[in-house]
Amino acid sequence: MTRGSRRTGLSRRSFVTGALGTGAALGAGATLAGCSDTSPTPVAAARFLPFEGAHQTGISAMPIPEQGLIASFNVLSRDRAGLAATLAELTDEIRGLMAGKPPEVRDPAFPPVDSGILGEKPPPDNLSVVVGVGASLFDHRFGLADRKPRELETMPFLANDRLDPKLSHGDLSIILEAGHTDTLQFALRQLMRRTRSHLVLRWMIDGYARGIGAGPVSEAATPRNLLGFKDGTSNLDVEDDALMDRHVWVGPGDGEPEWAVGGSYQAVRIIRMFVEFWDRTQLAEQEAIFGRRKVSGAPIGMTGEFDDPNYAEDPHGERIKLNAHIRLANPRTAESERNRILRRGFSYSRGFDGAGRLDQGLAFVSYQRSLEDGFLAVQRRLKGEPLEEYILPVGGGFFFTLPGVTGPDRFLGDQLVG
Ligand code: HEM
Repeated sequence: MTRGSRRTGLSRRSFVTGALGTGAALGAGATLAGCSDTSPTPVAAARFLPFEGAHQTGISAMPIPEQGLIASFNVLSRDRAGLAATLAELTDEIRGLMAGKPPEVRDPAFPPVDSGILGEKPPPDNLSVVVGVGASLFDHRFGLADRKPRELETMPFLANDRLDPKLSHGDLSIILEAGHTDTLQFALRQLMRRTRSHLVLRWMIDGYARGIGAGPVSEAATPRNLLGFKDGTSNLDVEDDALMDRHVWVGPGDGEPEWAVGGSYQAVRIIRMFVEFWDRTQLAEQEAIFGRRKVSGAPIGMTGEFDDPNYAEDPHGERIKLNAHIRLANPRTAESERNRILRRGFSYSRGFDGAGRLDQGLAFVSYQRSLEDGFLAVQRRLKGEPLEEYILPVGGGFFFTLPGVTGPDRFLGDQLVG
């Protein structure tokens, strides 16, 4: 694949240019990013994303919107028919939300059908909703045990983990992305309202995926995480269908249940960062830990962010340490090619803890065709990396994102429950 390649975070298809700050629909990050420059700044126009497709469209929609939210639910439906009805309701609501369907006007003697926080008609804001199912959905309740995706399991404790049960696992995951927080809150409340007798919130986390660190879109700049490093430089190109088929989408010959074809395994990790400790660490040490320069994002010893780190010429790790994050995560060998994953996480900031330390981190999300060959293989290589001293995984879960909806009469998971 695109080894050390160009930035893939912006879709050439969806990228359009417009004047700086011309409308409320522009993402705050994009608008602010251009504020020191009076020339028109290209921005990605906010739009309603398509809902239907062979795969859930939010997994690969570009550009990645500014805001993200992960919500995990327990399912209370009594039986398979109840679960099917819940998935159908959920799908109908998502379909309307992503298309910006105006809420129906009701007799004021009743509560309104929506919260009203987006006004009369929700504006386009790149809203996407991605639904996944956890291993627990395949227990005795719905008679689905023989339909469980082969590798789906409750996320185990992995290297360095302190998983908090109040922030982990769940029957069903919903990941929302949009340009603004109020769009996410609006969508979440609509989805919960529609399914309230069947879906109960188990945990959630929200944050931002881009922000001002991403710079002007014209430079296709990579956002920075809360450790100050560019994050997303080397990722799968979502426009390369062959690559996505190879690494992200479950295919017909994978030995998975038939209903699962077109879906993808989703690994969610809530990873806290000890930012005060990090901020007291020497720059040279920080860069060695990742294997990249902090300001430019270039691999150490190279000049450009997208330069190939060229490990073959540095077999003993004199330039980029053998245990640097990027080298372990993707050694770029013929064998490690099959372990490539699509990362689509976001930063979070949740105030501070009892000791007065900031509670910040990364809501890591990755998609892969196989958990074993994807996330788990990469995670195993990262075990014991120097970065572990500065981070602590505290939650998350493994889910299987349902295949996309391919017609008006279909719903998410219809073949799973049918
Ligand atoms: C708080 C935790 C983490 C931080 C701060 C972090 C940060 C970074 C940074 C700065 C890069 C280099 C820029 C880039 O190519 O995107 C990177 C690359 C990468 N990270 Fe992480 N990461 C974290 C956790 C993880 C986890 C849990 C995994 C998977 C198990 C992972 C997998 C990767 C991969 C596959 C790459 C691309 C390597 C390449 O292709 O060169 N990261 N990460």
